[in-house]
Amino acid sequence: MLRTLLSTIGLVGLAAAENGLAGWLRYAPIPGAERYRAQLPSHIVALNATATSPVYVAGQELEKGLQGIFGKQCTVHHAHGHWGAAPQVVVGTVDEYTKAYGALADAPELIEDGFWLSTKGQTVQILGQNERGALYGAFEYLSMLAQGNVTEVAYATNPAAPVRWTNEWNNMDGSIERGYAGASIFFANGVVVANMTRAAEYARLLSSIRINAVVINNVNANATLLSTQNIEGIGRVADVMRPYGIQVGISLYFASPTSAVQGQQNLTTFDPLDPSVVTWWTNVTEKIYERVPDMAGYLVKANSEGQPGPITYNRTLAEGANLFAKALQPHGGLVLFRAFVYNPINESVWKNDRANAAVDFFQPLDGEFDDNVVIQIKYGPIDFQVREPASPLFAAIPKSNVAIELQITPEYLGQQCHHVYLPPLWKTVLDFDLRKDNESSLVRDIITGKRFNKKLGGSAGVVNVGTNQTWLGSHLSMSNLYAYGRLAWNPSDDSTVMLQDWTRLTFGLNPSVIDTMVQFSLETWPAYENYSGNLGIQTLTDILYTHFGPNPQSQDNNTWGQWTRADGTQIGMDRTIGNGTGFSGQYPPEIAAMYDNLASTPDNLLLWFHHVNYTTVLKNGATVIQDFYDQHYAGAATAQTFVGMWQSLQGKIDTERFTDQLFRQVFQAGHSIVWRDAIVNFYHNLSGIPDEAKRVGSHPYRIEAESMVLDGYKTYAVQPFEVASNFTAIVTSTNTTVGTATAVLDFPAGVYDLGVNYYDMYGGNSSYCLYLNDKMVGEWVSNSFQYIGSNEAPRILGHQPSIYIDGHSATRVTFGNVTLAKGDMLKIVGTPSGIEPAPLDYVVVLPAGVVD
Ligand SMILES: *[C@@H]1O[C@H](CO)[C@@H](O)[C@H](O)[C@H]1NC(C)=O
Ligand SMILES: *[C@@H]1O[C@H](CO)[C@@H](O)[C@H](O)[C@H]1NC(C)=O
Ligand SMILES: *[C@@H]1O[C@H](CO)[C@@H](O)[C@H](O)[C@H]1NC(C)=O
Ligand SMILES: *[C@@H]1O[C@H](CO)[C@@H](O)[C@H](O)[C@H]1NC(C)=O
Ligand SMILES: *[C@@H]1O[C@H](CO)[C@@H](O)[C@H](O)[C@H]1NC(C)=O
Ligand SMILES: *[C@@H]1O[C@H](CO)[C@@H](O)[C@H](O)[C@H]1NC(C)=O
Ligand SMILES: *[C@@H]1O[C@H](CO)[C@@H](O)[C@H](O)[C@H]1NC(C)=O
Ligand SMILES: *[C@@H]1O[C@H](CO)[C@@H](O)[C@H](O)[C@H]1NC(C)=O
Ligand SMILES: *[C@@H]1O[C@H](CO)[C@@H](O)[C@H](O)[C@H]1NC(C)=O
Ligand SMILES: *[C@@H]1O[C@H](CO)[C@@H](O)[C@H](O)[C@H]1NC(C)=O
Ligand SMILES: *[C@@H]1O[C@H](CO)[C@@H](O)[C@H](O)[C@H]1NC(C)=O
Ligand SMILES: *[C@@H]1O[C@H](CO)[C@@H](O)[C@H](O)[C@H]1NC(C)=O
Repeated sequence: MLRTLLSTIGLVGLAAAENGLAGWLRYAPIPGAERYRAQLPSHIVALNATATSPVYVAGQELEKGLQGIFGKQCTVHHAHGHWGAAPQVVVGTVDEYTKAYGALADAPELIEDGFWLSTKGQTVQILGQNERGALYGAFEYLSMLAQGNVTEVAYATNPAAPVRWTNEWNNMDGSIERGYAGASIFFANGVVVANMTRAAEYARLLSSIRINAVVINNVNANATLLSTQNIEGIGRVADVMRPYGIQVGISLYFASPTSAVQGQQNLTTFDPLDPSVVTWWTNVTEKIYERVPDMAGYLVKANSEGQPGPITYNRTLAEGANLFAKALQPHGGLVLFRAFVYNPINESVWKNDRANAAVDFFQPLDGEFDDNVVIQIKYGPIDFQVREPASPLFAAIPKSNVAIELQITPEYLGQQCHHVYLPPLWKTVLDFDLRKDNESSLVRDIITGKRFNKKLGGSAGVVNVGTNQTWLGSHLSMSNLYAYGRLAWNPSDDSTVMLQDWTRLTFGLNPSVIDTMVQFSLETWPAYENYSGNLGIQTLTDILYTHFGPNPQSQDNNTWGQWTRADGTQIGMDRTIGNGTGFSGQYPPEIAAMYDNLASTPDNLLLWFHHVNYTTVLKNGATVIQDFYDQHYAGAATAQTFVGMWQSLQGKIDTERFTDQLFRQVFQAGHSIVWRDAIVNFYHNLSGIPDEAKRVGSHPYRIEAESMVLDGYKTYAVQPFEVASNFTAIVTSTNTTVGTATAVLDFPAGVYDLGVNYYDMYGGNSSYCLYLNDKMVGEWVSNSFQYIGSNEAPRILGHQPSIYIDGHSATRVTFGNVTLAKGDMLKIVGTPSGIEPAPLDYVVVLPAGVVD
């Protein structure tokens, strides 16, 4: 056992090419490294000789880091010794340090997981309050060095909160709910995988950002996780993560006692107050702790989206949570109980509102949860939308421990195929002052326990890394994971500073790379908000299918409660106290007053709180409908500039990652136009109000496929209508017919970018050729989604695919710098494949600088 564990740890971090596997822990050489070599430590003293100890691992990391960054060879020791005047680095707990070297002159004030770092003098001191803290300190020191920061420092740092967890929505069959980067690194075929290499590598990354626990399976959990075989598997994951100071937690299926679980008796009830159920969970919990003595605890999604829970038996959510709390209490485990509880509701009732559910369910129970229960609250009251107000529940249960749930996996934010740097969005909530009892009540002070005097609290981040070597499918998405860890430790950390640090660690120290990355990243969330759903209307993606592309009508006329209540004259949810759903009244009085009043509600949340006319004038002077138009055009225009910003990095970063991300930025630029057109067309059609700037429906640079001369192609009325230009596409007349579409160009002679909008459906890889006067300009295969089963070729884009011609499959390919003249003959030949009939929407002939 020990031998396999050691060999696993040994493999960790041996970075190959710039494939992203090392994340921000590359330990890449820095410019002028040799200048520092002499002053750097040549001896590393890691004050624990047990190879599975985080202190031992810290010694290994320091050795690897100093070697990688500076080419400096060090000797690692595990006890105090004398090495002449040679500089050294000592890493260990404060206690072990004191035993070996005597008390520190200024003993740092450390709480659990905190550390002291001093680079002053001949000995670098890295001292943790515990072993985990010591490892954090080693990563901090290496992070400074990797960023070329060799300044003398001496400081202590402590976590803002003890709960710094990730939630991995991994299913036991190896798939991942909202995962866009390949299969699970933890599970396959119903059991925990045998190969723990990636789990250990992941633990290393998370440890460096001070995450202390990972919930390895989906909140939509399965009882088979609790089989004897899988408990052994959970034990193996815990064994490779423990040396990195990471504890393992699991999500539970509430009705597990009535399921067939290998090694457990099954019952006829899962009533949380039934003694046999209590015994069942106590028994299972003991069994898990026998194998995993430091298990972090349980994450529970109950009575939510079809999941069973205590309410099934007319028991309260608190009774449900406390069932697990009592089983865990003797072992020191926590229950993270999700507040995401709501029922299906009927839109025809004006006062119905899903946003009300969390406070309605949980506020009456405040004070009834056991001490080791933490209520895990999504940042907003609905579900990870592009903008939401802070959940009022943060202020509504002051007697309960709370944690914020953030989503690093961008389920509603482009699924890692649109780059969206998320910390600025998270900060709108973390920095929000809920004014409980008319006093400062920042969400970040509530989750850290400061505001209501709680020992427990913190953050849970939904991550979903996969087997892809980039971890998240896109290199840049790793900036979100990195920043999540930093914010869990210190929710006041700065979005720009975190990004600069991440960029230096990931792409090196070139200042122009860092500046570009900062400018680009900080523009991504505002741009995405603008071309998806602005004014607080929510993301406007397809909530009934992929959550990826546009489909505004999917919000309404169903029981999910993510409504817009848009009709021909008005739009928005009336959440006022007087006439609406009363949601604004769930906030403390000062905030309730602000949101209840149209005049004091900020524009960016206007339609979240108010049902208004399309002609209502905003604080920025535009009408609601005109602002929809304006921002969607602006957002898509900004997304076009990301391509150029990224291209400016050519030669300044490695080719592998440059090329990979360029592909994604080009995709995002094209898909942002799909978004823009869909949203403006939809609301233009619904309201009948023209765009003052006359852009909507006007496409002077496009040639609609349906207006071309077709042979083997036929027109196709796309549903929903707004995701095709002129609401119409063309498809081959059968799924074996090769289609040809031709048009005579009527543009002045010149150099243009030629774009072709088509649909890349899952279930076929159509091929296309584009000709000018019978000379081929380009050819492509619509194969971004070859993969779905694990034995097929990997996907290129990881977002959830669509089997339809719709806003998810709509995409654009562009051929740059094409010289053409008036009267040229343009021809596209489409060859269908599988269920995909080589669909085409339009060709766009773009002069330099034009977006259409
Ligand atoms: C060394 O590390 C092991 C494993 O983490 C731990 O159990 C032990 O207490 C540590 N020893 C000391 C002296 O800190
Ligand atoms: C170097 O790191 C220290 C500690 O993290 C930090 O306070 C300081 O600002 C950094 N200096 C530079 C130049 O980045
Ligand atoms: C375990 O997984 C790693 C990383 O994917 C791989 O390199 C290694 O070959 C695997 N080991 C075995 C024994 O399959
Ligand atoms: C749990 O997994 C088993 C085996 O895959 C499956 O039959 C069962 O339906 C799953 N249960 C739930 C609640 O998803
Ligand atoms: C236990 O599970 C098995 C297999 O699903 C089922 O046949 C049996 O009826 C269950 N027993 C009880 C008491 O529910
Ligand atoms: C308790 O667990 C053991 C296995 O660890 C099992 O044999 C036994 O049936 C369980 N008892 C109950 C009451 O579930
Ligand atoms: C829950 O209570 C309702 C009404 O109070 C009752 O109709 C129902 O049968 C109860 N359900 C259970 C499972 O006890
Ligand atoms: C990982 O993602 C890259 C692009 O981001 C893709 O080219 C590759 O096929 C993916 N690999 C796997 C194993 O999913
Ligand atoms: C909901 O359905 C009604 C009736 O079919 C329709 O008039 C209305 O436009 C729909 N609402 C939205 C936002 O699509
Ligand atoms: C008040 O609520 C009704 C539905 O009960 C709705 O039709 C009406 O538009 C609302 N009035 C205002 C001013 O929003
Ligand atoms: C919407 O328009 C109607 C009719 O013009 C007007 O009576 C009403 O006050 C307007 N509502 C808002 C919120 O501006
Ligand atoms: C728009 O589509 C209709 C058929 O749906 C077609 O008659 C018309 O020519 C198209 N307009 C353009 C500009 O291609």
